[in-house]
Amino acid sequence: MLYNLKSLKEAQVSGKTVLLRADLDVPIENSQILDDSRLNSWFPTLEYLLGNGAKIIIVGHLGRPNGADKNLTLLPVANWIATKLKAQIVEEKIGDFDGWKITDSVSLIENIRFYKEEEENDQEFARKLAQLGTIFVNDAFATAHRSHASTEGIAHFIPSYAGLRVLQEVEVLSRVLESPDRPLGVVIGGAKIETKLPLVEKMHSLADYVMVGGEIAENDKVLLKVQHEKVSDRKSVLLVADLNQSRQDITAKSAENFLQLLADAKTIVWNGPMGKIEDPDFQNGTLTLAEGIINIRAYSILGGGDTIGFLRSKTLLDKFSFVSVGGGAMLEFLSGDRLPGLTVLEQK
Ligand code: 3PG
Repeated sequence: MLYNLKSLKEAQVSGKTVLLRADLDVPIENSQILDDSRLNSWFPTLEYLLGNGAKIIIVGHLGRPNGADKNLTLLPVANWIATKLKAQIVEEKIGDFDGWKITDSVSLIENIRFYKEEEENDQEFARKLAQLGTIFVNDAFATAHRSHASTEGIAHFIPSYAGLRVLQEVEVLSRVLESPDRPLGVVIGGAKIETKLPLVEKMHSLADYVMVGGEIAENDKVLLKVQHEKVSDRKSVLLVADLNQSRQDITAKSAENFLQLLADAKTIVWNGPMGKIEDPDFQNGTLTLAEGIINIRAYSILGGGDTIGFLRSKTLLDKFSFVSVGGGAMLEFLSGDRLPGLTVLEQK
């Protein structure tokens, strides 16, 4: 295993206040949560803590706000948690932070990225957060690649442990990184190009096939090819998709080529949609690929919020072997980078 993490199960949580870092970054439209997979991922950890007599303060972020942007309030998430716990929310101050009381034992802090100190990993800010509780549990795998106050800084001040979901993600992804069944195919699409481009480069040393579609293929075709040639220890064959006339989806031929190359894969990792899947006209590439990967019957790992929500709506999600909550975090883990949100939870 790549990390020797302190498990939540080692902590004495009874009667303690636990700060729980959770993945709350879910798609929301008109105050409606479009896909709650990420929220469900840490819910067993919350239930474990409640069952063992802890009080819990949940901390997390939504989107990339610039200051306290009310469009990115966690109010819909507070209501979601309240529904799950059969409770009603009440606004409350949690230390200096705005938030909601959900039950006598569970509170939620408003979007922690409303404070610029969060992303700066400001030590005073991290200390202030830590002072709200006595134990820190991180179950936010999708944010483990960020060195922020609520993911990394806080763990320097109070005893800190990995949550149940983080432990599971690390176990599954360590296996893929350390001894994957080969051939290993990695498919990367979607946006967030600045995060993904360096990760594609690192995949050439791990994977046998690297396939790139979506916005990243459109914008960086030449760069991707140059990058590939420059990697001296590359194992991989690289395929970059062509886009169709709309420029919003990959061509049917590209999807077919991807699947042809993947046909003998034993492990397939996929992150990011092939087209603009919010629009029904541009879903073909992603759907064809999903159905094709499912038919190949390799060990298939899917990550990334947008693709997960979309494939869940098409009832294809449970046909994948493992669904990671991480998008960028999953890729960064598999690229071999150390994730700061995990390193800080290791046994000393
Ligand atoms: C994600 O959606 O991948 C995580 O919530 C991290 O978001 P970020 O890329 O804005 O840090």
